Amino acid sequence: MSAGMLPQAVLVQIQHPLIQHKLTLLRDRETNAKEFRELVEELSVLMTFEVFSDLPTREVEVQTPLALATAKVVDIKRIAIIPILRAGLVMSSGILRLLPNARVGHIGLYRDPATLTPVRYYHKLPLNLPEMKVLVVDPMLATGGSAVQAVSILKENGAREIKFLCIIAAPEGVQALSAAHPDVPIFTAALDEHLNEHGYILPGLGDAGDRLFGTK
Ligand code: PRP
Ligand code: URA
Repeated sequence: MSAGMLPQAVLVQIQHPLIQHKLTLLRDRETNAKEFRELVEELSVLMTFEVFSDLPTREVEVQTPLALATAKVVDIKRIAIIPILRAGLVMSSGILRLLPNARVGHIGLYRDPATLTPVRYYHKLPLNLPEMKVLVVDPMLATGGSAVQAVSILKENGAREIKFLCIIAAPEGVQALSAAHPDVPIFTAALDEHLNEHGYILPGLGDAGDRLFGTK
């Protein structure tokens, strides 16, 4: 399937030059684990600005040293960041530097290497998900199986307003996620070509979890 056939309404490619620059460094096989983690954190912060550009604000009054100002605030506690373990963890730790009072829920999934289907092993979620703006984070959207299952778990637990943030998406993953959950917008820095026979994104960046945590 070509990128042109994808449902554009649910896919936002973030094209900012600084994001694309950092993505290039991330793809480079010479980038070591420390640099790779730093880049994933930085990219996550930068992309979160775009993801949450529609957050509602509330007016408050604040006393400056000179006068009373009418200013705006966001209800950060109504935001839930949901990393898919393992690789999503580094994205959430970057985003927490920007939104330190956001709530965090964890969903543990890994892909069975033979079937490429996700195996669920853990989840712990914030209590009041129905009232929260929920952002699922995982650097890679490959077959889409992990993202589809993570969003299903969130909906089973009451989440209503969900967005998905990745760094690289494959057309197959965008198709699967938007077919299963058409209400969930997908934000990515890149839409790559396709998957190889092992379910890895080409050209991609390799195995995100292994590169982040040095496990291979
Ligand atoms: C990777 C990645 C996603 C998943 C994407 O995790 O971080 O969670 O694969 O693939 P999919 O779209 O085909 O489901 P992995 O399963 O390797 O687990 P890990 O992070 O624990 O290594
Ligand atoms: N998971 C990864 O870490 N990389 C891919 O290319 C696909 C799935």
